[in-house]
Amino acid sequence: MLLLTLAIGALALLLSWDFMRKRKRVAAFGRSMISGPLALPILGNGLQGLSLGAENIVDWVEESFRIYGKTFRMWIMGESLIYTIDLKHFEAILSSTTLLEKGQLYTFLRPFLNDGLLLSVGKKWHSRRKVFTTAFHFNVLEHYVGIMDRQSAVMVEKLQEVADGKTAVDMLRFVSLAALDVITEAAMGVQVNAQSDPKFPYVQALKSVVYIQSDRMFKFSQRYDWIFRLTCPVLHYKLRGDIRIMHDFTNKVIRERRATVEQAKADGSYRPLSLADPKMGGKSQMALLDILLQTTIDGQPLSDADIREEVDTFMFEGDDTTSSGVSHALYAISRHPQVQESIHKELLQVLGNDPSSPVTQSKLQELKYLDCVIKETLRLYPPVPTVGRYTTKELQIGGHTIPANTSIYLVLYLAHRDAEHFPDPLDFKPERFLHADSENRRTFAYVPFSAGPKNCIGQKFAMLEMKALISKLLRCYELLPRGADVRPMINFILRSPSGINVGLRPRKS
Ligand code: HEM
Repeated sequence: MLLLTLAIGALALLLSWDFMRKRKRVAAFGRSMISGPLALPILGNGLQGLSLGAENIVDWVEESFRIYGKTFRMWIMGESLIYTIDLKHFEAILSSTTLLEKGQLYTFLRPFLNDGLLLSVGKKWHSRRKVFTTAFHFNVLEHYVGIMDRQSAVMVEKLQEVADGKTAVDMLRFVSLAALDVITEAAMGVQVNAQSDPKFPYVQALKSVVYIQSDRMFKFSQRYDWIFRLTCPVLHYKLRGDIRIMHDFTNKVIRERRATVEQAKADGSYRPLSLADPKMGGKSQMALLDILLQTTIDGQPLSDADIREEVDTFMFEGDDTTSSGVSHALYAISRHPQVQESIHKELLQVLGNDPSSPVTQSKLQELKYLDCVIKETLRLYPPVPTVGRYTTKELQIGGHTIPANTSIYLVLYLAHRDAEHFPDPLDFKPERFLHADSENRRTFAYVPFSAGPKNCIGQKFAMLEMKALISKLLRCYELLPRGADVRPMINFILRSPSGINVGLRPRKS
């Protein structure tokens, strides 16, 4: 009897605590008429949101938009969330200069990215954003195109063993190693040769950390650190170890690069790098790391820890995003022979017959049709499928009151497929992007790189890289529709549990 009374008392306390902490937000949601699925006490919609698994989330969110309209709310264990595909909200949120905090799901990135550009806000973010804008200057990009060209040639060579015209090849496996080689050299100025040595400890650790953290987001037993530690101690231990391997490697590269600069200063051979080095014909040879080592903010150089969080951020942002974009583009091209033919014709016109001849930034920019193909790919398969923000105070947008402490997720994947903005939304039609004015009309309807102050700082780099990898591959191989179709799986990055499959056949020279 005593036990029963205690249990009822504990339950009553738990329910009142749950009610008290959610009270203001429930009232604000009521006032703003944002509805959503019925939420249980304590768990909220946790059973739906965390039990479906990442593979089924897209269908569930799509169905919820059908039921509740273009914006709906849900609760997961007291956390309030809003999902939206309403462009009024996209505009208000993305243009805001004050709403810069990231949604709760981004906390899974913090253990390995710390407070780098993606996750930082305020003065720290602002001053570093200015520094990085320099890093993507036209002259610096030319140096990166050289790296992209070299690494895409390695990728083409590695693909030879599977290019028999029959095998279904999951392109993400190959592209992600090539993209990792590109970003490591561009960000740190070192070569890890991931394509030749995928077992290199840093490469394995980075892949493993991203995999474990992505997987945790939609699993009840892993989402909260304290439960994760208790229920999955081995995985938790592995995660810690892998993060240590990543950080040790980045620290070592920073220390060595700093020592080289110090040595050069000591023996008088130091010459500060400049964006347009006359000895390089106006081009630069800088890795992002060099820019960070030379930077001072308020007269102070950046510490190794400051630099590490930025380099790690670029490694994360620059690898999986581009790999997802390139792999989905190859997949779409393989299923649209007309599109493939038009790209190939353009490649012959602009780059000539010899597939080994190197590309340059200006040649890549001449590939206008390929540009449209990539843009259409990023519409249907946006590598970053949702963008999230977190309200630290109550907010008025588009006639709605959004309560404080709410994560708002802009579901780019579904907004990009809205028939209101894109007729025949599921058709792959690169021609949509042929006229620049049609793009302008769709501001906020098409935001694969986000928009506003926190937009993707690497988008020019990413477009060049996607063009470099795809053009090299299509100059050497014909793509064929082989293997299972893609199935969208949303986590940090858009993936497909069935693979992103194509067949490859060498082109006759
Ligand atoms: C197809 C490839 C890419 C896509 C689709 C993409 C998309 C995005 C999106 C949507 C955001 C905003 C995220 C948010 O607001 O939550 C973002 C931010 C960012 N991206 Fe990219 N990205 C790509 C490639 C790259 C590359 C190659 C780099 C670096 C070389 C990069 C560096 C960054 C950084 C540092 C941020 C944070 C910017 C800030 O918060 O100020 N991205 N990206």
